[in-house]
Amino acid sequence: MIDLSKCRSEFPALKVKVGQYAAAYFDGAGGTQFPQRVIDAMVSYICQGNANIHGHYLTSQLTDQLILDAREAAAVLLNASSPDEIAFGANMTTMNFALSRALARDLQPGDEIITTDLEHEANRSPWLELREQGFVVKSAPINKEDCTLDYGWLEREINSKTKIVAVGYASNAVGTINDVERVVQLAKEVGAVTVIDAVHYAAHGVIDVQALDCDFLLCSAYKFFGPHVGILYGKRSAFERLRTYKVRPQSPEPPCKFETGTGNFEGLAGVIGAVDFIASLGDELLTGEHSLRERIVAGYEAIEQYERPLFKVLVEGLEAIPGVTLYGLPWDGRRTATVAFTVAGVHASEVARRLGEVGIFVMCGDFYATRLIEVLDLVREGGVIRAGLAPYNTLEEVERLLAAVREIAAQ
Ligand SMILES: Cc1ncc(COP(=O)(O)O)c(C=O)c1O
Repeated sequence: MIDLSKCRSEFPALKVKVGQYAAAYFDGAGGTQFPQRVIDAMVSYICQGNANIHGHYLTSQLTDQLILDAREAAAVLLNASSPDEIAFGANMTTMNFALSRALARDLQPGDEIITTDLEHEANRSPWLELREQGFVVKSAPINKEDCTLDYGWLEREINSKTKIVAVGYASNAVGTINDVERVVQLAKEVGAVTVIDAVHYAAHGVIDVQALDCDFLLCSAYKFFGPHVGILYGKRSAFERLRTYKVRPQSPEPPCKFETGTGNFEGLAGVIGAVDFIASLGDELLTGEHSLRERIVAGYEAIEQYERPLFKVLVEGLEAIPGVTLYGLPWDGRRTATVAFTVAGVHASEVARRLGEVGIFVMCGDFYATRLIEVLDLVREGGVIRAGLAPYNTLEEVERLLAAVREIAAQ
């Protein structure tokens, strides 16, 4: 089990106050807070390692090594078979646009791409915009009552014309964890390339790209205790085939062929720190010596063990408030500890504003899960209010959130 006070002591942002109220961060799905070790790693690079790459002097050589170390850390995090399967970039959205453009170079007019109604727009818009090049883009519908994907539709629509299947691992709005294993299998049966958006999932569940056998998977370190760095995994064979847009002097080999311009090196130092932080949570469950991968797997287990009972209190507490509607699966369904709700008669932004006033930080709107909010017909209400848990949230914070929502709903 996570040692809560030890875990919380690592996060300086938890000392923030709004007047008399301690900040309660339920906005992890929008970006988690930084543990001190991540901040220290970034500051240390800036103070002692800052340089551009490939120079014949100390700090440049340190930077070259840092990049290799960051690739190694991210490869272990995702269980990639080699650090060369890991590329870094500005953020997931930018990387997915670059990936989609590169993949589209090998498509023919009439070829089909599948995305879903549950996605963040970062995994819809890059594909939808390819319609202008003559490709057919289809979006899998959802079952509105529990916000799960319509797998029957996917089984029917993924066919020999399908060349790319782009699906999220988990919804950043309602927390549904998709059956990505099944979707990857369907895509593989017709030889389609698979692109997985694991941005939301990476904060809550362990990822194993080899077991999943996807071609590409993207995530963003700022959602799992790291800085603002995008991460792309590309299976070696798929990555080698990919015809990226690049500048002439750039290496034609993966992963460098994907990385345009100068990297965010202090961010990469932070990525190593974030992976180390997740592994450190695993140490609470392990005894003796273990590999980094084993510690990471245990780290995610510790996160799940901590978040799930707290999530039960949060969801059941919200369900008990008259006027509150929740979206998605039950608290113990296949979902992350992220809940979306509305309060009857109160605009989502008004609820979020009033919670913010008492130090309870939640997001409202569609969080770029724009299509989902349209499908749920919640645009007029201002979308939903989203409260997501991280391992630094406490029972007392959850109770504060419930009491504040109770008060808003009663008015
Ligand atoms: C599920 C999901 N996909 C993609 C993104 C976009 O990530 P980035 O901000 O790194 O572009 C987000 C960000 O909120 C997200 O939650």
